[in-house]
Amino acid sequence: MAIERVGVVGCGLMGSGIAQVAAQAGCHVTVREVSPQLLEKGLQSLDKNLARLVEKGTLPSSDRDQVRARLRGTTNLNEFKDCDFVIEAIVELLPAKRELWTALDKICPKQTIFASNTSSLSITEMATFTQRLDRFLGMHFFNPVPVMKLVEVIRTIATDPKVFDEIVAFGAKLGKTVVRTSDRTGFIVNRLLVPYLLDAVRALEEGVASVEDIDNSMKLGCGHPMGPLTLLDFVGLDTTYYISNIMFDEFKEKRFASPPLLKRMVLAGWNGRKAGRGFYDYADPARPKPLQLT
Ligand code: CAA
Ligand code: NAD
Repeated sequence: MAIERVGVVGCGLMGSGIAQVAAQAGCHVTVREVSPQLLEKGLQSLDKNLARLVEKGTLPSSDRDQVRARLRGTTNLNEFKDCDFVIEAIVELLPAKRELWTALDKICPKQTIFASNTSSLSITEMATFTQRLDRFLGMHFFNPVPVMKLVEVIRTIATDPKVFDEIVAFGAKLGKTVVRTSDRTGFIVNRLLVPYLLDAVRALEEGVASVEDIDNSMKLGCGHPMGPLTLLDFVGLDTTYYISNIMFDEFKEKRFASPPLLKRMVLAGWNGRKAGRGFYDYADPARPKPLQLT
């Protein structure tokens, strides 16, 4: 089955990027948000990314117009009824995902393949909210989606191997390098990355160094493109907090436990770059100002 019509649920940091790369690969994409305002915000960020590519000369403006013509925004889930493939990139909370998959399973035909972009939730558990365990898998992109070259494709014990191969091929069609993995919490990247990010918060809490010095250490000492606290702000502190709770619940290991400072920042709504404040203040987004948090 060729994947031509793609549904993307959620037009936040990840959903907008997934919708963009799918439309750039020639697919007809419907992207859904919960309100017209959030849809508008997500599509504006997508348009900004496309404009940046046109300015740099990597995307002719006529191609940009065609990409845009293949993209449709909606707040109505019923518009997913003709999709060959639906990928979900909504908030990392199981009850929200359960409600969504239960509804989508009734709307989409039996052959539609479902995938979650979850960072840490069990793909098998989400598949059980539907009647299509064999056509359900994980497709985990990285932020920012148009730039990061990797996608993890995740099978469960019930995923049909043909469906798995089809989505591996689809990942390549989107221009990504695909790694295959199985339904173990955090898959490959987050199993390794999340404890590192949480340790950076613990180092800050314990007074090892300032926000800026922790970030500079990993950038300049280890060649990382961003320091861990900048990366946390970039990923979203709310998302990381949910991920850490899910991973701690699964493994019961301290390295996955949320540091108290992370929890308090999320309670205060300091969710990172998207909220204008996290470990840095983004009042001037070009010059983030490190904050004194301890
Ligand atoms: N959206 C789209 N494109 C973007 C972008 C964004 N938000 N931010 C930057 N870019 C593009 C720029 O246009 C530029 O493109 P060209 O090379 O074609 O000119 C390129 O990325 C580099 O950008 P900049 O020169 O402005 O900045 P940079 O060199 O600092 O790179 C970065 C920015 C690519 C984000 C880099 O800092 C980086 O790789 N950071 C680490 C990101 C990372 O680790 N992501 C994974 C997070 S974990 C995850 O996603 C999994 C999970 O489940 C939580
Ligand atoms: P985000 O907060 O930027 O966006 C989530 C969006 O989903 C919000 O705009 C919200 O309004 C919308 N939403 C919530 N319920 C919805 C529904 N029922 N229908 C349509 N839209 C709905 O979050 P994000 O960073 O894009 O993360 C989304 C998913 O991707 C999560 O599962 C997260 O774990 C995963 N993920 C995140 C990253 C990252 O770096 N942020 C990387 C890889 C995977």
